[in-house]
Amino acid sequence: MAGVLLVIVTFLLALPTATAIGKTCGHAGNYTANGTYQSNLASLAATLPSNTSSSPQLFATATAGEGGPDVAYALALCRGDMTGNLTGCSACVAAAFRYAQLACPNAKAASVYDDACLLGFSSQAYSNSNNVTQDASTLFEFWNSGELAGDATVVSAAVEDLLAQTVQEAADNTTRFATAVMDASSAVSQTLYSMAQCTPDLAAGDCLTCLRWVVGMVNATTSVRNGGRVLVLRCNVRFETFLFYQGSPMKRITPSSSPAAAPPPAPTTNKRIKPWVIPVVVVPALAIVAFCFIVVYCRQKRRRHRKGNLRLRQKYTNNKLQGGDELDWEMEAELSEFSVFDFHQILEATNNFSEENKLGEGGFGPVYKGQFPDGIEIAVKRLASHSGQGFMEFKNEVQLIAKLQHTNLVRLLGCCSQGEEKILVYEYLPNKSLDFFIFDENRKSLLDWNKRLEIIEGIAEGLLYLHKHSRLRVIHRDLKPSNILLDSELNPKISDFGLAKIFGSNNTEESTTRRVVGTYGYMAPEYASGGLFSIKSDVFSFGVLVIEIISGKRNSSSHDCGEFINILGYAWQLYEEGKWSELIDSSLVPMHESAEMMRCVNIGLLCVQENAADRPTMLDVIAMLSSKTKILDKPKHPAYFNVRVGNEEASTTGTELSSNNEKTISATTAR
Ligand SMILES: *[C@@H]1O[C@H](CO)[C@@H](O)[C@H](O)[C@H]1NC(C)=O
Ligand SMILES: *[C@@H]1O[C@H](CO)[C@@H](O)[C@H](O)[C@H]1NC(C)=O
Ligand SMILES: *[C@@H]1O[C@H](CO)[C@@H](O)[C@H](O)[C@H]1NC(C)=O
Ligand SMILES: *[C@@H]1O[C@H](CO)[C@@H](O)[C@H](O)[C@H]1NC(C)=O
Ligand SMILES: *[C@@H]1O[C@H](CO)[C@@H](O)[C@H](O)[C@H]1NC(C)=O
Ligand SMILES: *[C@@H]1O[C@H](CO)[C@@H](O)[C@H](O)[C@H]1NC(C)=O
Ligand SMILES: *[C@@H]1O[C@H](CO)[C@@H](O)[C@H](O)[C@H]1NC(C)=O
Repeated sequence: MAGVLLVIVTFLLALPTATAIGKTCGHAGNYTANGTYQSNLASLAATLPSNTSSSPQLFATATAGEGGPDVAYALALCRGDMTGNLTGCSACVAAAFRYAQLACPNAKAASVYDDACLLGFSSQAYSNSNNVTQDASTLFEFWNSGELAGDATVVSAAVEDLLAQTVQEAADNTTRFATAVMDASSAVSQTLYSMAQCTPDLAAGDCLTCLRWVVGMVNATTSVRNGGRVLVLRCNVRFETFLFYQGSPMKRITPSSSPAAAPPPAPTTNKRIKPWVIPVVVVPALAIVAFCFIVVYCRQKRRRHRKGNLRLRQKYTNNKLQGGDELDWEMEAELSEFSVFDFHQILEATNNFSEENKLGEGGFGPVYKGQFPDGIEIAVKRLASHSGQGFMEFKNEVQLIAKLQHTNLVRLLGCCSQGEEKILVYEYLPNKSLDFFIFDENRKSLLDWNKRLEIIEGIAEGLLYLHKHSRLRVIHRDLKPSNILLDSELNPKISDFGLAKIFGSNNTEESTTRRVVGTYGYMAPEYASGGLFSIKSDVFSFGVLVIEIISGKRNSSSHDCGEFINILGYAWQLYEEGKWSELIDSSLVPMHESAEMMRCVNIGLLCVQENAADRPTMLDVIAMLSSKTKILDKPKHPAYFNVRVGNEEASTTGTELSSNNEKTISATTAR
């Protein structure tokens, strides 16, 4: 007892010396002076510093108290490079406790950030999975006031690149810590040092999600500062123009080439120019400059025709290539836009289709991540058994699909075929698909209302392009959240479009059989049962997507739908009764944009009406989305209003389908 009192006293008296770079005080209320919570906190303050520095990972969590409201939880982490300064680590954590007393007097919860360590305590347990609510409440940003010299877009691209690569490195390392350096280059005139760290109890994926969220806080204004940090309790990043950690950087990062809008610089590295380089370099450099003029000129001529495409390629070039490779790639892209890859190249890029490279099982076969020797990352789709179609026929079809280019479509780079193997090569998008976000309790809050609206609009634009503005009229036929990929800025990109076409199922009018390709729950009724498809069947799938994006619930999961068996009927009834707000994803509450939300629910319901003729076209949908005042029709009841979606239905229509709700099915039905 006396010991505890002594601890409290030291805990309270040792205030004045403490400093830190930042803190967030919790909103969970205050503890009572001299109460049990305070003594629990004091015992944490007594043991946590040494427990942290004695852990090999410089990380410790602790709990004090015997249940009830007075239990105190804490966690502390020292910077990954403090392994050589254990006294410094424990002193830092101890000082952080003192600082919390000073900066957040009597607060039950606080986070304290210092150069060498961080500390959090709370009356609620810390979870070691992603929890954006928790992260957001501990967010602290600190930006240097000076700015980096140079063109703002170039500098900010370099800084973002540096951070993106550093966080990837940290997540990949089991210590969840990484340091990096980007040498002074054409992009930044100063050397930049960076660091990223997660608490080591996070899984690699959760660490990456956390770090990407944190890096997402960096905006156009802050990314040109000459140093800064963004911290939450679970993960943090920092960059400076000076070396701020012990030891040498774990990774050297070369800036990706500067944006193509600026005249492409001659391949630049940080190597000092040697005298003999000048004659060797100058002449080709002149040739390159002349070539660039031609490319830029041709490109400008083409720009009128292919707006979306340019943005995509530019992005692709920026992200994936370095220095002199850019020119070769540009040239190739300009001349052909489409490649036929050698099977051995694909084998090598995907490590012989190894399990580690597998990204998932798509509708028409497994998808693998690949990387060419020059660093370009790709996604490789290995088509499941395919009609005995010859190579030329396959190539021509794929080539036609590859010409479809739009900001909201995943770019098809080429194909490969060897014997029975038919392979499609796509641009690689790191952020997974929409279902990964909207149906996940933690990740869904990464998509706020504005972002969701942007995603809905992006999908609508991509679909309109497929239906109306592309040279081919393409009906997607398998639109669903897992086919909507998200790029690094969470912009939607429709994938797997045109596959139904490649699979030779569009010219069915003459044939006696037709293929039904799609996914239950997203298939329009006339298509699922009769095999009839039109642009209106895509509109139906789009409507299901809209309802899912707004509600954060899967159409096919029947719980949470009241007496209904799927979300469409439930949504319609709520809408009819004026209770549409009960449909909205709880992570969007409080609802600031309720008028917009209601319009979206209305539009979604119009798209899923049972009768195809009643559904709007994508052009109508875009008009409705972009006008805030246009009066919307009242939706009639949706399809599957009182029918269970799934295998039961398959049996009633006599089609032979053996597939669960989530999987794409592909089957042949007799007319
Ligand atoms: C907690 O205590 C601080 C300072 O003692 C005071 O400013 C704050 O209003 C209190 N908060 C609550 C929720 O009582
Ligand atoms: C808490 O304890 C300290 C030291 O024992 C004492 O000075 C202070 O008055 C006490 N405060 C309350 C509110 O009991
Ligand atoms: C610190 O570590 C010791 C020994 O491992 C353990 O008994 C003690 O409970 C730890 N303290 C805290 C606050 O977790
Ligand atoms: C150890 O860390 C402390 C706290 O950050 C720091 O003040 C001290 O300079 C470091 N000592 C050495 C030898 O690096
Ligand atoms: C996330 O954290 C908040 C606040 O700490 C907590 O209320 C909530 O239950 C947590 N959610 C999950 C899924 O752990
Ligand atoms: C992981 O990080 C440690 C230092 O924290 C470093 O020594 C090690 O080389 C890293 N491992 C990899 C595979 O980068
Ligand atoms: C960028 O982020 C900083 C720090 O959060 C904020 O103060 C500033 O308003 C943001 N600027 C823009 C243009 O969003």
